[in-house]
Amino acid sequence: MKLLSVTLNKLKLNQNVFLTGGAGVGKTTLTREIIESFVSDAKKVAKLASTGMAATLIGGQTLHSFFDLGIASDIQDLENNAKLQAKKKIKKLINSIDLIVIDEISMVSSFLFEMIHLRLIQSKFQGVFLVVGDFLQLPPVVRGATEVMFAFESEAWGKFAFETIELTHIYKTDDKRFIELLHNVRYGYIDENIHNHLNQYIKPLPENLGEFTYLFGKNNSASAHNKKQLEYIDEDLFIKEVQIIKHSKNVYDGEIQRYMIDARIEKELELKIGVPILFTRNSWNYFNGERGIVVNKDASYIYIQKSDANIIKLETIGISKIMWREKTVDGKKEMQEENLFTLYQYPIKLAFGITIHKSQGMSIEDLIIDTNEIFAPSQFYVALSRSSNPSRLNLISPRCQWHDLAFVNQKAVAFVRGKHA
Ligand SMILES: Nc1ncnc2c1ncn2[C@@H]1O[C@H](COP(=O)(O)OP(=O)(O)O)[C@@H](O)[C@H]1O
Ligand SMILES: [Mg+2]
Repeated sequence: MKLLSVTLNKLKLNQNVFLTGGAGVGKTTLTREIIESFVSDAKKVAKLASTGMAATLIGGQTLHSFFDLGIASDIQDLENNAKLQAKKKIKKLINSIDLIVIDEISMVSSFLFEMIHLRLIQSKFQGVFLVVGDFLQLPPVVRGATEVMFAFESEAWGKFAFETIELTHIYKTDDKRFIELLHNVRYGYIDENIHNHLNQYIKPLPENLGEFTYLFGKNNSASAHNKKQLEYIDEDLFIKEVQIIKHSKNVYDGEIQRYMIDARIEKELELKIGVPILFTRNSWNYFNGERGIVVNKDASYIYIQKSDANIIKLETIGISKIMWREKTVDGKKEMQEENLFTLYQYPIKLAFGITIHKSQGMSIEDLIIDTNEIFAPSQFYVALSRSSNPSRLNLISPRCQWHDLAFVNQKAVAFVRGKHA
């Protein structure tokens, strides 16, 4: 693929790259291919993201964990927590890396980005840096009324002198009118046409809500909806518990619990025969966001019928927390990834309801969006752009105007527009 070789060539010439474009243009997919190419050349790659979920989609870890930032949210915090100086071990690790990748960069605050820059300087990082994401998707999470500060607003951003590569082709759907709609909503641009087009998706709700996935703004709403819909199904409940394998004695239970929450791995997966589920990872025979129905189970498998009528014999998958350790390979000391612990769980969740935040990265065919729980800029765009089949998209009539719902952060718009100038 041309874009793959273009991006690889830049990175191999030590040019830092910012890989961007709207939702579903294949940023994460291309990123995985870039990582594979580096790894196959025996290069060391740090695969990172600000959230645990985004990190597991590229087989990596969180920024805080890799850069040993503890719980600090800015450099002042690092200092207060006696973590300003990087440990020798961390410096050695960072220095040994050839490529650092960060996905979902829109959720990395400028303060976090400054901390990353500090660690790279402290470690005399010699490798190349690839940041991936779309600033017109979910912004960094901030506490209270503090103003959102994006990574691109930091002093560090300029120092990396990124070259921008923009992907534009949407693979999820070929509905041109819908693609145009998404493009406009992404920029918060709602004229009369767009307004009317959005209204067309306000339809009578289906009788059986279980055939659709409800997107909510809040966690509580999604759990309540799942619970209620699960009760309607007249079958016995069964629970699949996560299996934990520790590969080292020095693993604390608290660390495992935290990882489970971050990586969105269910501790106790509650199911019934007949429940609709969404796959939560990508594999050769299913994709993240794909729908299916639980049709059977035994001790080792859950049998899932997909909408194409194929039945998949689903096993648990292992997701591991990794750490880097120095090892001797062919007489030379080298940093290598090692699994600290592995969690085995079925990569599915109930399909009745999910939050917009948790749906980031998914392509969902049968969708209802609760428009009355939108609170963050670009959140409506993220919700809409999950849809891979506009004929199966329903919008709940909003209490405000579409224009007010599709609000975007103006700093993000200015930055993204600047890239096209
Ligand atoms: N080159 C490609 N050809 C066909 N489908 C693709 C390609 N790249 C991505 N996709 C599909 O498009 C969807 C979105 O891709 P993803 O990489 O998650 O996009 P992004 O990270 O930009 O939101 C996925 O279902 C993926 O399988
Ligand atoms: Mg992505």
